[in-house]
Amino acid sequence: MTRKVLITGTAGFVGFHLARILLAEGFTVLGYDGMTDYYDVALKRRRHTMLLQNPGFSAVEAMLEDRERLDKVADEFRPDVIVHLAGQAGVRYSLENPRAYLDANVIGTFNVMEAARRLEVGHLLMASTSSVYGANTEMPFVETEKADTQLTIYAATKKATESMAHAYAHLWNLPTTMFRFFTVYGPWGRPDMAPHKFVDAILAGRPLDIYNHGEMYRDFTYVEDLVRAIRLLIDVVPERPENGEVPEGDSLSPVAPYRVVNIGNSDKVKLLDFVEAIEESAGRKAIRNYMDMQMGDVPATWADASLLERLTGYRPQTDFRQGVARFVEWYRDYFEK
Ligand SMILES: NC(=O)c1ccc[n+]([C@@H]2O[C@H](COP(=O)([O-])OP(=O)(O)OC[C@H]3O[C@@H](n4cnc5c(N)ncnc54)[C@H](O)[C@@H]3O)[C@@H](O)[C@H]2O)c1
Repeated sequence: MTRKVLITGTAGFVGFHLARILLAEGFTVLGYDGMTDYYDVALKRRRHTMLLQNPGFSAVEAMLEDRERLDKVADEFRPDVIVHLAGQAGVRYSLENPRAYLDANVIGTFNVMEAARRLEVGHLLMASTSSVYGANTEMPFVETEKADTQLTIYAATKKATESMAHAYAHLWNLPTTMFRFFTVYGPWGRPDMAPHKFVDAILAGRPLDIYNHGEMYRDFTYVEDLVRAIRLLIDVVPERPENGEVPEGDSLSPVAPYRVVNIGNSDKVKLLDFVEAIEESAGRKAIRNYMDMQMGDVPATWADASLLERLTGYRPQTDFRQGVARFVEWYRDYFEK
């Protein structure tokens, strides 16, 4: 039975929430995070401080690229499962500093895969992104569709990790699940992401930039729903199909214990409706600054989450108005005190 989980990226948004629910269930969690300064390190430290209140949690501050350290930490802890969430996130920053993505996401992920292979962990689960769907226009996005048209280096590095992970799953019989996350938001969220920037601008009475003149759609996923889905997927260990036969609609590889799973709300929300929900919760009007589309951005994302539901019986379903209200409440509590 899974008891010990190594999570990379526990000072980050998703890793923090995942560690919280696993600790509440009685798992022993080791967090590995390099505390990079891509955004406010104080927020990352606050997340770790909260996790450290639970005796089941311990943390190591180190980079994924530091292979020796990662190996040593993993060898000592001997995890049953590894959930790899650390990485260089953000679509826009990847135009500015593409190399950070290659280092963290390609080299860093390879180091995690090597540790997982050596320790023969029961299940390796890693974060990819809806951005791998790139220029696909057929919606909602389904895992079994081709995803070969990445539009940014961020997306390309995540797609590379999917390919690398498939090879390791095949070669070493390493059960691996890749998540494709769709725009995650909620309390303790990331300051570089649109929901955070919107709330910040609205509360401060500053104009907020709305790209593509508001013709933008996102499948906003409430963070607590997302980590619930991850928790359930930990127990859904992919198995190599015996004679290459894969059930209809499953993204399972015909030759490896490897699967890709969308985690999204399966709801396409117009950005302007999301902004309106923030206005309502904040009790203030936004000053809208309409802009053209940004380079590398896509006008819409929308998840088909039926595979997740089939595998786990669970489907994220927090309505965005409800999720936004909780986010704004947290924001005020955190920043206005
Ligand atoms: N939040 C989203 O909407 C979203 C969407 C799609 C995919 N993802 C992916 O999910 C994962 C988690 O995202 P998040 O929103 O929690 O991001 P985050 O930036 O809040 O968390 C990532 C954590 O990884 C750490 N980190 C970064 N590079 C590192 C390195 N080289 N070595 C060690 N630690 C390092 C950071 O310090 C940070 O605490 C990421 O891989 C991201 O690309 C997130």
